Amino acid sequence: MGKFVNMTTLITNIQQLVNVREQNNLLRGKDLALLPVIENAFLLIEDGIITDYGAMYELELKVPHLPKNIIDVTGQFVLPAWCDSHTHIVFAKSREEEFVDKIKGATYAEIAAKGGGILNSASKLNAASEDELFNSAWQRLDEISKLGTGAVEIKSGYGLTVEGELKMLRVIKKLKEKSALSIKATFLGAHTYPAVFKENHQGYIDSIINEMLPVIAAEKLADYIDVFCETGFFSPEEMETICKAGMQYGLKPKLHVNQLNSIGGIEAAIKLNAVSVDHLETMTDNDVELLSGSNMIGTLLPTAAFFLRMQYQPARQLIDNNCAIALASDYNPGSSPGGNMNFVVALSCIQMKMLPEEAINAATINGAFAMELQNELGSITIGKKANIIFTKPIPSIAYLPYSFSNNCIDKVMIGGLFI
Ligand code: NIG
Ligand code: FE
Repeated sequence: MGKFVNMTTLITNIQQLVNVREQNNLLRGKDLALLPVIENAFLLIEDGIITDYGAMYELELKVPHLPKNIIDVTGQFVLPAWCDSHTHIVFAKSREEEFVDKIKGATYAEIAAKGGGILNSASKLNAASEDELFNSAWQRLDEISKLGTGAVEIKSGYGLTVEGELKMLRVIKKLKEKSALSIKATFLGAHTYPAVFKENHQGYIDSIINEMLPVIAAEKLADYIDVFCETGFFSPEEMETICKAGMQYGLKPKLHVNQLNSIGGIEAAIKLNAVSVDHLETMTDNDVELLSGSNMIGTLLPTAAFFLRMQYQPARQLIDNNCAIALASDYNPGSSPGGNMNFVVALSCIQMKMLPEEAINAATINGAFAMELQNELGSITIGKKANIIFTKPIPSIAYLPYSFSNNCIDKVMIGGLFI
């Protein structure tokens, strides 16, 4: 994953150039189903940036001097790389033993009582070195980029100590510096209460506010702040306190709400002017109405619902009520141990009845908005980064989610370079 590329590439005979947009608009309601395409198209990329595109019959006029590097992709579809706006890919160890315990019938509470769950990941993370964490996260980045992801948000939240949280965020900062992918960092110190603060919640909140946030701000370690707002974790009031402290340092909220319970997380998020509210498995009609009337993006994580055997997010109801929604992988060792956005898109069509066009928009342009990267990524637009998926020859765009367990990706380009 090199960072710099200095060359001109012309892609010709593209069966369909997908998600071509002159303007950046966050898509909500009916607009989510509008996926603009150009049939039989060309695409010009210079120094890693999209500089022109059009129908093949316009090529001579638009690109009078053909570059040396011309790639013919007859039969193939070309679309913007996935924008995965919610992940936890810095972690020390996988947790398949909990997965097996659950198959055998263990409940969430029993797993937690055995030291499982987020606290399991936290003890392993605190024992790991920064280099180990960097190397394993780097491999995950490599893996998801080959699956077509070109931008990713990464959260802390498996440290739950001052050193652990800072270590995670420093790893993310290094990933940002070294990777050609676009990366945003989110501070999720409020993922759960660590054991030492089990009876002293205010003590942990004080540590987040007084010990973690000042260093995070001084070292510029995060773009966003997140809180896991659920019964048994952080209340909406606690979320507000923590987010307001983060906002003093310029961190905008991107929040975990309404996964297991509807406890006022959406109302609190609106007060905080959050960029996004993520998960949304458990939504009341009132929650949907509130989200619809807000500027916030609802980020749906269907693979987490799939893996935990939970109800899926009410995607149709959200779209039909004019909410702006994005799709993300939630890649993490506990509830979504993979970051395959092709599967996220497929699952959202198969289980949540999103149209293929809606799912692709939610996983590209709206995902870019959910990371505030819409000026850089998320569509085929002049001036945007050439982070691009080249499919194998396929009959139609709906074939992508339809053939859900097949790999339809031929090649992925990041910053104008094939990886
Ligand atoms: O987004 N729900 C909270 N956090 C993660 C899962 C955490 C874990 O089990 O490690 C999520 O699903
Ligand atoms: Fe998550």
